[in-house]
Amino acid sequence: MVTREDAQALDANDPLRQYKSQFLIADPSMCYLDGNSLGRLPKATQNVLTDFMVNGWGAKVVDGWADWIDMAETVGDVIGRAALGAAPGQVLAQDTTSVNFYRACRAAISARPGRKTIITDAANFPTDRYILEGIADELGLNLVMIQNEITSESLGTTDERVTVEQLEQYLNDDVALVTLSVVAYRSGALHDLKALTAAARAHGALFVWDASHAVGAVDLQFDRDGVDIAVGCTYKYGNSGPGAPAWVYFSKSIQPELDTPIHGWFAQRNQFEMGQGFSQIDGMRGFQIASPSIIGLLSIQTAFEIIEEAGIANINAKASRGTDMMIEMYDEWLAPLGYTLLTPRDSSLRGGHITLHHPDAGQIARGLRLHKNVIPDFREPNGIRVSISPLPTSYEEVFEGFERIRDYTASGDYKSIDLSGSKVT
Ligand SMILES: Cc1ncc(COP(=O)(O)O)c(C=O)c1O
Repeated sequence: MVTREDAQALDANDPLRQYKSQFLIADPSMCYLDGNSLGRLPKATQNVLTDFMVNGWGAKVVDGWADWIDMAETVGDVIGRAALGAAPGQVLAQDTTSVNFYRACRAAISARPGRKTIITDAANFPTDRYILEGIADELGLNLVMIQNEITSESLGTTDERVTVEQLEQYLNDDVALVTLSVVAYRSGALHDLKALTAAARAHGALFVWDASHAVGAVDLQFDRDGVDIAVGCTYKYGNSGPGAPAWVYFSKSIQPELDTPIHGWFAQRNQFEMGQGFSQIDGMRGFQIASPSIIGLLSIQTAFEIIEEAGIANINAKASRGTDMMIEMYDEWLAPLGYTLLTPRDSSLRGGHITLHHPDAGQIARGLRLHKNVIPDFREPNGIRVSISPLPTSYEEVFEGFERIRDYTASGDYKSIDLSGSKVT
């Protein structure tokens, strides 16, 4: 049985315990279990951005570009070093995950001319599926969806994790591109990047990974694991702020095979000659489109330097222990109240969140926010997602949140919650 004392003992022995105080926590009684959706604000970011306003943009005005012009690359290197296991020169911090995903998939497909098939899974994040549908229409390709999605009908039969054996059934020499999320946004299941990438490559296909739900929680090792192409965001476990730029990773070995599908002026050889005709510069700069958000990049740099200092292996260990604790509390308290765990029980097969199904999940999730100061999120069908973001979250905060979820569910008070009128779940 998990007790508050157990959670306090975990905090006392937590090598990351000093990091919570480095984040702005406006309401200490809030149990913030949604760092997998939007991370908390590092106090250092406030100072860095204020300094930029005064001494950067404010003081230097346009001359500042001399300092800022390469920042998509330099900040990309910080992300790579801190959280992706990527040596310099392979990551750009820019645009949104969706734009980077489009760019990465188009570049991969063009590098496999004549092949007509794209493979993804039905559990993939909506923006990825929609973009792939668009690309398939645009280029006349076949989009194959592995049917692994948790729905009301498939509940209990899938954890949305695609295995090598499953993928093998779909691979052949017509496949140009395979793409999956590293961690499934709904179930939280973690894919085997190394084995799946190798399986696709054995058939001549390229793999694009969406690591949005993994970066900053999972010990990603792209260079070691032979990943060719990946994209992800910075605002979840990356704590870089709402709408902060995303990133794209192209391994050194794949870069020469790829053309940028969007010919922006930042990708142009000798950019400031401003000459006629596009010629893509070598290296990651050749995949940059345009002027980056310097405010966004400074937020990323600050937050990922904290991740680097804390150590991604330590962070991942806390995500594993924290989600183990959640599953213990689910077994004891929540399963008897009608919840079902949708996430793998083996911590090596999940990221930093778990998802709990309950027939009244929508009302419970809304009621927890409105009346119990617990912030989870809700995902169809009837899933409540709860995460531990290892730097700003304590074990005791997770424990307290689960106690409130248990007591609120047992009370039945959520039954009167009105679900109309919320734009975001
Ligand atoms: C797995 C995944 N991919 C893509 C996105 C979309 O990100 P963006 O809005 O930055 O394009 C999200 C957003 O939460 C996500 O979770």
